[in-house]
Amino acid sequence: MESILRIAIQKKGRLSEKSLQLLKEAGISISNGSSRLKAQASNFPLEVLFLRDDDIPQYVAEGVAQAGILGENVVAEKAFPVETKLELGFAKCRLSLAIPREIDYPGPQWFEGKKVATTYPGILQQFLEKEGVHAQTESISGSVEVAPGIGLADGICDIVSTGSTLFTNGLKEVETVMRSQAILVASPQMNQAQEALLEQLIFRMQAVLRARKRKYILLNAPNEAIPAISQLLPGMKSPTVLPLAEEGWSSLHTVVHEQEFWDVIDQLKKLGAEGILVTNIEKMIL
Ligand code: PRP
Ligand code: ZN
Repeated sequence: MESILRIAIQKKGRLSEKSLQLLKEAGISISNGSSRLKAQASNFPLEVLFLRDDDIPQYVAEGVAQAGILGENVVAEKAFPVETKLELGFAKCRLSLAIPREIDYPGPQWFEGKKVATTYPGILQQFLEKEGVHAQTESISGSVEVAPGIGLADGICDIVSTGSTLFTNGLKEVETVMRSQAILVASPQMNQAQEALLEQLIFRMQAVLRARKRKYILLNAPNEAIPAISQLLPGMKSPTVLPLAEEGWSSLHTVVHEQEFWDVIDQLKKLGAEGILVTNIEKMIL
């Protein structure tokens, strides 16, 4: 049996660059860019397939690739048997209903008897059923946002990230149908060696994702403030405390979520902390 892991990522689009970046930060070097169909990693038994995101669920379900990185929205729409392994925290967006900006929107019942253009007919249909609304879904393969302007549909159901596509097309978002982000999915079909490789890859990705969410903090504080500061910033186990050359002072090192740091910054200063440094962490293993 071959012991190489194949991962499918988006060839071109919102996810492609960040997917490659994640692999790179996980210590995997891929020589050629996404211009070709596939590329081989030089320092890990991994082959990368560059595909249209919409095709990834099928390839992974059928075991052509053992893993894939794509949006939750595409996985939900395609409904192929793939297993979600990891939420990757990038390419955050929502699948929303939108209508022409000038129309007053009373609620989901507005869509009763209307025509909605989308590339996500499955998810949309479920949403409409849940809301008890009967609308016609017009399934198209792209440029959904122009549908109302050319008279193809009354509204649309599409991915919104910054909202600029809706804005430039004179549309407004009126309902959130689902929230989505990039995820790592796995195939139901792989051999033991591939499963072991996937575990290694997941371990590395987790170390990167954990580190992305946190900061390394260094600060100086008077010794009597160390217990109170340690309570505010407990870190991974407990903070590292090193004596400064100046008598009565210590340097304290710890790891926190960036938001938690901003939440306690005023208290830290009141306790006498000074010379506070905040730096990025590259990998974090628990
Ligand atoms: C979505 C959607 C819009 C755009 C919205 O496409 O179809 O074109 O993103 O982003 P914005 O709110 O920042 O303007 P997507 O990237 O999912 O591409 P795809 O449908 O071709 O896969
Ligand atoms: Zn797509």
